[in-house]
Amino acid sequence: MTVSAPDSVLVILRLILVGSMSTSIIRLALSYVIGQKEYLQTLFSSNLCNKNYTIKIKGYAIKMSEPKDYFVHSHGLCETLKVGRGSRVWAFTHILPGATIGENCNVCDHVFIENDVVIGDRVTIKCGVQIWDGISIEDDVFIGPNATFTNDIFPRSKVYPEKFERTIICKGASLGANCTILPGITIGENAMVGAGSVVTRSVPPNVTVVGNPARILKANNL
Ligand SMILES: CC(C)(COP(=O)(O)OP(=O)(O)OC[C@H]1O[C@@H](n2cnc3c(N)ncnc32)[C@H](O)[C@@H]1OP(=O)(O)O)[C@@H](O)C(=O)NCCC(=O)NCCS
Repeated sequence: MTVSAPDSVLVILRLILVGSMSTSIIRLALSYVIGQKEYLQTLFSSNLCNKNYTIKIKGYAIKMSEPKDYFVHSHGLCETLKVGRGSRVWAFTHILPGATIGENCNVCDHVFIENDVVIGDRVTIKCGVQIWDGISIEDDVFIGPNATFTNDIFPRSKVYPEKFERTIICKGASLGANCTILPGITIGENAMVGAGSVVTRSVPPNVTVVGNPARILKANNL
């Protein structure tokens, strides 16, 4: 039997459909076996497919989509497409289109991330954190709940600085709950900022700082 050109396209389409269905069934079965609740959530998330593209076979345009390799909760608003594999963005979080989020990050509920923000890999951002323009977060950083960043040292309503001061949280550093980081500060590698501290000066690597203004409490054991 000869297959005409449009029929061959249909055959290919059916193969793709059957292929993707069987892949989904295998994934579903695996997720039951492994018992990964989060994986199931991801599978049924309304935001599951966003990588849409079109391929052409013999002049026929076929719309394809493949599953995201990161998770956005159905009540999250993630406008950037620059989110690394395995990252999770939870409910009531809003990420603006210019932001970059690395791999395997966990961005918890009620987080706001502006455009000029770069976040590395394996970063944890707990609930209630806002990350403004000019702030960079390196790999393996932990940001405690309600930690506060700033980017304007002398703020006035409707008066904007020419450029926002840059704040860098270096690799492996941790910020305790409810601390405040003033603008233009660098927190050194593996440093620890105590809960509720107000950081007014840059912090060297591998130390713990506490208090208002934050002062060095001790060197960290590596
Ligand atoms: C900073 C921190 C790591 C220090 O822990 P630690 O090494 O066990 O320190 P200690 O509890 O032995 O305290 C040492 C001294 O620092 C003081 N101190 C500890 N944490 C402080 C803080 N956040 N602010 C002010 N002073 C603090 C203590 O009162 C103590 O002072 P004293 O010797 O005069 O009594 C810890 O207290 C902290 O703030 N961790 C962050 C917790 C957090 O926010 N987690 C977020 C996830 S939910």
